Amino acid sequence: MNIIDAIKERHSVRHYTAQPIELEKIQRLKQLVIEYNEVSGLHIQLITNEPRSFGESLLARYGKFSGVTNYFAMIGKKSDFLDETIGYYGEKLVLESQMMGLNTCWVGLSYKKISSVLNIANDEKLVCLISVGYGATQGVDHKRKMPYKVSKTDVKSSPQWYKQGIGCALLAPTAINQQKFKFELKPGNKVSVKAGWGPYSKVDLGIVKYHFEIGAGIQNFTWE
Ligand SMILES: Cc1cc2nc3c(=O)[nH]c(=O)nc-3n(C[C@H](O)[C@H](O)[C@H](O)COP(=O)(O)O)c2cc1C
Repeated sequence: MNIIDAIKERHSVRHYTAQPIELEKIQRLKQLVIEYNEVSGLHIQLITNEPRSFGESLLARYGKFSGVTNYFAMIGKKSDFLDETIGYYGEKLVLESQMMGLNTCWVGLSYKKISSVLNIANDEKLVCLISVGYGATQGVDHKRKMPYKVSKTDVKSSPQWYKQGIGCALLAPTAINQQKFKFELKPGNKVSVKAGWGPYSKVDLGIVKYHFEIGAGIQNFTWE
C-alpha cells in the first residue's frame, strides 16, 4: 500500500481485536518514533500492552473505544507550536501504521491518563493519544466538506497539484470531524493554511498540512 492509498483507506477505528501487533512492526514503529522525535524535538512514546487508558472509565465508554492496549502518547515541550507539530508527526505515524495494515484513532478526550507508564517532564505536556492495533473493522467513510469550503482560492481553476493537495487534506482526520481549516494559493506557488476556532484545531492544522504535502508534492510549493 502506498501513502496515497493509506490516506484514502484510513478511517478512525475505535474497536480492536486481541491480535497482538507483530514484534517487527512494533520495532519499526519505535524506530519511527525515535526518528520523528529527533527531527521535531517532540517526546512521543509508543506504549504497548497497557489496557488501562481505555479501560472501564466513563470517558472511554463515552468515546466507545474497546480493545485498545497500544497507543502513541503524543508528548512535547510546551510552546505555541506544540499542537501543530504533534499533528504533523502524529499523522505521519498514523499513515505509516495504516501502510503496515494497522488501524488508528486520534484521541483527544476519551481516555484516562496513566501517569506511571508515561515519561513527561515538567516543561512537557501530553496533548493526546493515538490508538493503534488491529481493528475489528476498517472503520467507515465520513462526510467531508466540499473543496470550496476549505480554500479561499477557487479550486476548480487552480493547478492540478493544488487540487490534489486539497483532496488529500479533506481526507484527513480532524477533531469531531470539524475540518475548520482554510487554504489559500498565493503568487509564487506559496500556500498558506489557517486553523479555524475549535477544540484541537491546531493539532488538526498539523495533520492537514502533512496530508496537503503528500497530495500536492512538496516540490511544487512552499508554505507561506
Ligand atoms: C485531534 C483529534 C482528536 C480526536 N479526539 C477524539 C476523541 O477524543 N474521541 C473519539 O472518539 N474520536 C476522536 N477523534 C477522531 C475524529 O472524531 C475523527 O477523526 C473524525 O470524526 C473523522 O473521521 P475519520 O478519522 O474516520 O476520517 C479525534 C481526531 C483528532 C484529529
